[in-house]
Amino acid sequence: MPHQPYRIGLLGHGVVGSAFEALLDERKADIESATGRSPEIGGILTRSRGNFQEILERSDVIVEVMGGIEPAGTYALETLRAGKPLITANKQLLAARGSELLGLARKCEMPLRFEASVAGAVPIIRTLDGALGAAEISRVYGIVNGTTNFILSAMEDGKEYGEALVEAREAGYYGADGPTEDVSGKDAAAKMAILARLAFGVDATLDDVYADGIEELHPDDLQYARDFDMTLKLLGSATRENGRLALSVHPTFLPRTHPLAAITGPINAVTVEGEAFESITLSAPGAGGPPTASAVLGDLLAVMRGESYSLSKQATLPIVHDTTHAFYLHVEVADDPGTLSRIAGVLGDEGISIQSVLQRGLGETARLIFILHPTTRPHLQAALTTVGHLDVLRSSPRVIHVLG
Ligand SMILES: NC(=O)c1ccc[n+]([C@@H]2O[C@H](COP(=O)([O-])OP(=O)(O)OC[C@H]3O[C@@H](n4cnc5c(N)ncnc54)[C@H](OP(=O)(O)O)[C@@H]3O)[C@@H](O)[C@H]2O)c1
Repeated sequence: MPHQPYRIGLLGHGVVGSAFEALLDERKADIESATGRSPEIGGILTRSRGNFQEILERSDVIVEVMGGIEPAGTYALETLRAGKPLITANKQLLAARGSELLGLARKCEMPLRFEASVAGAVPIIRTLDGALGAAEISRVYGIVNGTTNFILSAMEDGKEYGEALVEAREAGYYGADGPTEDVSGKDAAAKMAILARLAFGVDATLDDVYADGIEELHPDDLQYARDFDMTLKLLGSATRENGRLALSVHPTFLPRTHPLAAITGPINAVTVEGEAFESITLSAPGAGGPPTASAVLGDLLAVMRGESYSLSKQATLPIVHDTTHAFYLHVEVADDPGTLSRIAGVLGDEGISIQSVLQRGLGETARLIFILHPTTRPHLQAALTTVGHLDVLRSSPRVIHVLG
């Protein structure tokens, strides 16, 4: 006997939407045998095709892969109000209006799933909501933007920033909208807001996440990183410390022995830490049609089985932008006797101790590269203001976070 159809209203038929349609076609038989229903695309909406109300009426579920806040937000709310489950890959929408959407889904008792919104094929949302739903988590951090990881990997191989950017475009890692959201850290910040909600139960939005991008990096910082046996990644992190939650995205140096140091190219990886389970790292392709479609398909199977997120955590932790970090500090100074000890003295006056230092002579000037023991931004900033007034300084100090 033929299976009863399960109709999918597909909003968006671009990179993810068309890959989802193809993957659904391939995997249909297994979904039928797992659920007893036959999933089929019942309508497609693009700018030039389809009508949302008609698609909604004849669908059992809506899959939103069009992106942007509007009209995607209105369509998402209308879907839930109509008593239909919603699957979305839209991180911008969730980071801006996650509370409203999840609140409505709860009220309407409708599943709302969004695995593809963070880190492509990495099943981090269901891991945080399911396996770690009852765990006390101290930190979630990782590489959640494949485009910048690809660019940084290319720069470590000797490419200039501009060249790496062109390579990323040619490889299809960003499209017509350009790479601004990626390189500014905003895309990663949206994903960290979503992860913070799942891991810590806070009502975080994009504005709660401090984001530093990769546009201001200097190639010689990557060079010096090698001398310290470190590599550079754009890391998003959500860290519980002293009863507060620090949410940020920063370029960060990692020791080459760190598990995330080996994540190169467009791959994403997320590490979750907690006292009971210590550390879990998941990695997979973070973007592109098939990996993202694979996450959407997993959500479809879950919805067809009647599974909703538990969203068991609710907290009102104050959200801050920063916590204590080790830092890399780059200063260019006059190559005079006593300069190093003057700068070390200023750092010491702010209670900042030096882990290691490297000096490179450049004729009349010298570069000093410090790795500083963990301190807070305000302490470091106070020290840098004093350093900025020293007559030996020849360029503005540069600072990058260091992990581990
Ligand atoms: N691409 C990835 O690797 C990736 C990874 C993870 C998550 N995501 C998320 O998945 C979503 C889709 O990304 P994508 O890369 O597939 O985008 P895309 O290739 O630009 O496709 C967007 C699709 O949505 C349609 N659309 C956009 N605005 C519309 C509107 N106002 N009315 C009707 N249709 C509209 C477009 O129609 P037209 O064809 O007529 O323009 C197009 O078919 C986004 O939320 C993105 O953040 C993407």
